[in-house]
Amino acid sequence: MNRLAQPTRFQAPFRRASKTKNSRTDIGKSLLLLLPVFMLLMWQCTSTEHPRVNSPDGSIQAQFIMNESGVPGYRILHKGSPVIDTSHLGFELKNAPGLHSGWKITQTTRKSVNNTWQMLWGEQRNVANHYNQLKIKLKEKNAPNRKMNVIFRVYDDGIGFRYVFPGQKNMDEVVIMGEKSQFNLTGNHTCWWIPGDWDIYEHLYNKTPFTGIDATTKRNNDNLAQTYIPYNAVNTPVTMKTQKGLHLSFHEADLTDYAGMTLRVNKDQLMMESELVGSDRLGYKVKRKAPFATPWRTIQISEDAAGLIESNLIVNLNDPNQLGEMPWFTPMKYVGIWWEMHVGKSTWAMEGGKHGATTEHAKEMINFAAANNIGGVLVEGWNTGWEHWIGFDDREGVFDFVTPYPDYDLQEVARYAKENGVELIMHHETSAAPRTYEKQLDTAYKLMERLGLHSVKTGYVGEIIPEGEYHHGQWMVNHYRKVLKTAAEHQVAVNAHEPIKATGIRRTWPNAITREGLRGQEFNAWASDGGNPPDHLPTVAFTRMLAGPIDYTPGIFNIQPMGDADKNRISTTLAQQLALYVVINSPLQMAADLRENYKDHPAFQFIRDVAVNWEQSLVLNGKIGQYVTMARQERGTQNWFVGSITNEEPREMNISLDFLEPGQKYTAALYRDGDNAHWKDNPTAYAIDTLKVTSESTLDLRLAPGGGAAVSIMGPTD
Ligand code: NOJ
Ligand code: CA
Repeated sequence: MNRLAQPTRFQAPFRRASKTKNSRTDIGKSLLLLLPVFMLLMWQCTSTEHPRVNSPDGSIQAQFIMNESGVPGYRILHKGSPVIDTSHLGFELKNAPGLHSGWKITQTTRKSVNNTWQMLWGEQRNVANHYNQLKIKLKEKNAPNRKMNVIFRVYDDGIGFRYVFPGQKNMDEVVIMGEKSQFNLTGNHTCWWIPGDWDIYEHLYNKTPFTGIDATTKRNNDNLAQTYIPYNAVNTPVTMKTQKGLHLSFHEADLTDYAGMTLRVNKDQLMMESELVGSDRLGYKVKRKAPFATPWRTIQISEDAAGLIESNLIVNLNDPNQLGEMPWFTPMKYVGIWWEMHVGKSTWAMEGGKHGATTEHAKEMINFAAANNIGGVLVEGWNTGWEHWIGFDDREGVFDFVTPYPDYDLQEVARYAKENGVELIMHHETSAAPRTYEKQLDTAYKLMERLGLHSVKTGYVGEIIPEGEYHHGQWMVNHYRKVLKTAAEHQVAVNAHEPIKATGIRRTWPNAITREGLRGQEFNAWASDGGNPPDHLPTVAFTRMLAGPIDYTPGIFNIQPMGDADKNRISTTLAQQLALYVVINSPLQMAADLRENYKDHPAFQFIRDVAVNWEQSLVLNGKIGQYVTMARQERGTQNWFVGSITNEEPREMNISLDFLEPGQKYTAALYRDGDNAHWKDNPTAYAIDTLKVTSESTLDLRLAPGGGAAVSIMGPTD
């Protein structure tokens, strides 16, 4: 909810009678009042035409629709107006007639769920899970009389629907050649989108009207592996704003043993249709044995942009935690032998005399982490294989996940890290050769277990081997899950780069800590198009971040690491780099810059102080691609942190601190852009103001072009 402009809540059309009323007359009155509800429910249960289900607050409605030819479809309404107009549902199958028409409804069932679950770590402790469900059982009228179910879950913040293929003798193995879920838009909405790449999400966002989406030519980086898609499609999450100001975001939840979904763009009909990532090698999109369920197709719906970030739809649509407590992992900040490779100061490979991952250097990093309230140290380039890195075709069998280079004493570094209370973060760059990785999975994770290492960063740079597979296809979805499960068995948490998109699996597998899956900070070091522009992160917050935590690797203080004249640079102010620790959610947050760039910088204190695990998170304001301000309360303390970022426009805003505990006093440190700061020619000008604040205080924030503000509010104090 936008705290600056609280909209009045839409009133549910039918309120439940109060439970405390128990006199006969009251009960009688209540029954009378409820009569229309009963009538409506009876109508809903008996009507086979448009079974419908409302969100708990009544603002959103999903309708299941079936025409005379038995073509199944749906509509979504928000406050009575269509958000998604009649859209069809179906599949194309291999060696079997498609599942498009000829259906009849055999049963509709409903249920309501209202409970709360706890995130082990993340943007909030308690998550309310409140929805109404409608399940439609379908059967073909004619032979082969196959069966398929469609389930709708309607929440106050959006909807999800999924297909369920029950066990049946006439459809045992299902080979899907195409899923035909349509999303029929009601206008030419403004869209924030990246191309429907089958391999990588590392693209800049485009902002265009729906009819302006042109994913086949507006591909904006040729770094790393990407797949040319011959048709016009977008990746998810894709976020939209209607002319009336309603905010929508389309994505998926619980992507399990299935192909990732891109959305094909039909400009003439203002329609999107699911286009699954395929396997050229296997000649299909998805192969499953019934019974099985598809991922949820999700639409987040909010009256303001802030509500999209506050939505828990994606995690709620996943199964509960399978791992129980994970006492072996704690959310943390980390530093690494990492940025130095990206800016060319050292190398991953040992040859050449600039090897980053030496025992000595790793120990320096451990000392630095221990001295600065930073929990972990990532060491990339520790293992053999990097001598073949980049530009080599045969990557199979090259990387080794157990053999350190001779100048890196893994045992000793692990021992030293433990002695200093620092977590050593393992690195597995697979170079997109998952078969090579899978062969070593067991030994690699056993090694970590032996050494007491509980975190790994994985990577999948390059085109997938074997040829014909893609990062986002079913085969790789299963690979990523296998890695997650193996890691869990060995008490390891995973930060995946070049991953499959986040779809809320972190609820079920909380060792899925964070991931990349966007154009990260690394692009600022070497992208041929010069890096991420100032509107990148204010867009990411309302698109990619809706899917789940992001390992963006913030905290670069040396804004022009390649020299003043070079186009590769960070396009934010230093103060914005601090604000990112609050704005971009991740239980693992890197302090990405080189140690020497933090030296003697008072602003580094914010990185020392900032939390990574939250009791609650509030979106104080925001507009997609323009600005966003978040306040988050550290879990287990009274400390709050505020972060605000803007695109190239300067902004002034007044923030109420009414979220603080009334009557308590706090000490706030405001890290702000200097008076003449500007991302382009004066990015490192900043100032720090120390203030005493209470819940009645307000803060004036002034953000420079490409700037930001970060505030630590520590309390309570006297
Ligand atoms: C790409 C990852 O995103 C980056 O963080 C990593 O340093 C390189 N791959 C090497 O693994
Ligand atoms: Ca990457």
